[in-house]
Amino acid sequence: MIPTPFPDRPRFDARDMVLGRTRYAADRRLAGMLHAMTVPARIAKGTVTSLGAEAALRVPGVVRVLTPDDFPEPPPSAEDGPPPPPPTLTSTVSFRGEPIALVIAESLEAAIEGAEAMRPVYAEEPFQALMDGLEADREEAEPYVAGDAAAVMARAAVTVSETYESPTQHHNPIELMATVAEFRDGRLSVHECSQSVGLAKYAVFAALRIDPAVVDVRSPHVGGSFGQKGLAQRQTALIAQAALLTGRPVKLVMPRGQIFHVAAYRPRSRHRVELGATGEGSMIAARYDAIQEQSRQGFFPAAEYHEAPIRLYGIENYLGTGADIRLDRQAPGWMRAPHAQASCFAFESAVDELAWKLGQDPLAFRLANDAARDPRTGRPLSSRFMRECLEEGARRFGWKERVAQPGSMTAEDGTLIGWGVACGAYPSSMPPAIARLRVGADGRTRFAVSGHEMGQGIRTAIASVLIEELSIDPVGLEIVIADTTSVPQHMTAGSWGTAGCVPATMKAVERMRSAVAELVGGQRIAGNLHRQLAMVRRPSVEVEVSELAPGQKPEALEELKAGGIVAMGPEYPAFTSMSYGAHFVEVRVEPRTRRVRVPRVVSIADCGRVISPRTAASQVYGGVIWGIGASLRERTEVDPRFGGYLNSDIADYVVAVNADIEEIDVGLIDRPDLIANRAGLKGLGQVTMAGVSAAVANAVFHATGKRLRSLPMRIEDLL
Ligand code: MOS
Repeated sequence: MIPTPFPDRPRFDARDMVLGRTRYAADRRLAGMLHAMTVPARIAKGTVTSLGAEAALRVPGVVRVLTPDDFPEPPPSAEDGPPPPPPTLTSTVSFRGEPIALVIAESLEAAIEGAEAMRPVYAEEPFQALMDGLEADREEAEPYVAGDAAAVMARAAVTVSETYESPTQHHNPIELMATVAEFRDGRLSVHECSQSVGLAKYAVFAALRIDPAVVDVRSPHVGGSFGQKGLAQRQTALIAQAALLTGRPVKLVMPRGQIFHVAAYRPRSRHRVELGATGEGSMIAARYDAIQEQSRQGFFPAAEYHEAPIRLYGIENYLGTGADIRLDRQAPGWMRAPHAQASCFAFESAVDELAWKLGQDPLAFRLANDAARDPRTGRPLSSRFMRECLEEGARRFGWKERVAQPGSMTAEDGTLIGWGVACGAYPSSMPPAIARLRVGADGRTRFAVSGHEMGQGIRTAIASVLIEELSIDPVGLEIVIADTTSVPQHMTAGSWGTAGCVPATMKAVERMRSAVAELVGGQRIAGNLHRQLAMVRRPSVEVEVSELAPGQKPEALEELKAGGIVAMGPEYPAFTSMSYGAHFVEVRVEPRTRRVRVPRVVSIADCGRVISPRTAASQVYGGVIWGIGASLRERTEVDPRFGGYLNSDIADYVVAVNADIEEIDVGLIDRPDLIANRAGLKGLGQVTMAGVSAAVANAVFHATGKRLRSLPMRIEDLL
């Protein structure tokens, strides 16, 4: 039976947000609170020989300067235990901007003045900030292999082989990285913006060598994260220690310029893609090599550039290699559509080049190369509606009016018009979950589940299920997430937020319904669950449920409780689960200035069943907008002379703004995937962005006849 679609429901927290009532980490003002400011290293590599804190300590209001000596030795990293927590303060500098001291003061102004008064002395060492010229120093990743790409490529009638590049890019959520810590009545409470309060808690107790039982971390609201706040942040343990040592609450809001230098970022990557097809246009082989910049200790995996491309089409012979080039930079990491932003740009550009070489329409070419199963494992796909995305998008966009020849569609004033299409895919993953639901006779409902708000509006999806499927009063509904004092908390990332909450919510709803039915017995009581409980004189009923990913071993629940990251996907024991999308883009290129505008995008996503239409559509808008920014604007300028970044603010790091964005038509296929999980949903957040840059590049080629293979595509590339 196909479940009925969920209705469009306003964002659960919309009213509080527009009224300014939502309290983010930095909004916490506690009595006697001190302010902290980190002191970043001004060298890219070397040693701090003296900190020069005297002048800082003379600044009125400065209370204390924390140095590496104020922290315990880092814990030894166990063989199969969790990775070590992030380092705290260090006198061994491994990238420019690494925190070397923390100034604590009575006011923010004094903390800043104190940090600027520090006069550290360094012994500098040579360093490498750019991967250019180091391409031979490859640290190989595990390849992705299907069939025999080399042998079959040799038989291909038509091939393309090109190199594409995606630059270093930084997340720039509105909310800066903020931590408030307080030690009171024997408990250390941390308020932070985080996608993983479990990891944040671990970072504190492991780095500071204190009892996990006294540490609480909460992150009820996050003002945008996109992967930046996924792994433990370095500042968390610093601020926690500052609170312990001063005995007062301490706050740090890290300035954006410092965030550029310590937070995760999308690494620059270079992609050599070779595709082979038969004369009729059937893609039979792909050889694809991706290299990326990497830090000395970083572990953002180069292999995963292949996760999406190998499943975009039914190419039976695929050899995907990948490698790291290690540099003296902070660790790169997950940033919206990690891997897929760069790899779908490269791969879907190459697919477009191959279609053009074959003389085929790029939409028809994609439809003709649909996949029936996962080429990597040979297993079935849980569901795949990429064809539906392409067909629906083409219909809405009016693709059949397209004239194939580049440069042949122009406006009256000579503006060049280009239409491009590209697809994206992204793993649909799922973590285990534990949820606790309590319904009271007093009209209140409290639902606690593992999950994090990261700007996506996760409470709206949870509320959608609770309100639609359980007879409760929506006004009395409280949703507790991202709180280590409630149920165990798994990291929310990898587009698995909804899969981590909603199947468990549905299970809890079923359990609650039967629990109340049992209490009420055969009586017929009109009204909602609260009233039914009141009538049988029961103050409240609580149920607890757990949920595993398909085929996941029950031990995963123990690992979840221990704070582990145990999400599964895209490969499950019996199938592979991917989400899909298709983007249709119109560009207009001004004839004289060569300025590129994007007046129109149609983007259709297959995320299985849609749980919250409003926030799901917002995800697609966000992914497309960022895709346009990544295509035409965003590039972090790495400074090869001194290390670090030159455009470390949002005046100079240019993101897409309102004036860049015109019409975006969003569609969701909304076909439940009941193999993926009991809710029928698949991930959405990241697939929305995957392929947008290729669609823009393909449209630019169609408008101008010029193939741009390096992001961002700027005016100077089209002159
Ligand atoms: Mo995401 S980039 O996996 O938070």
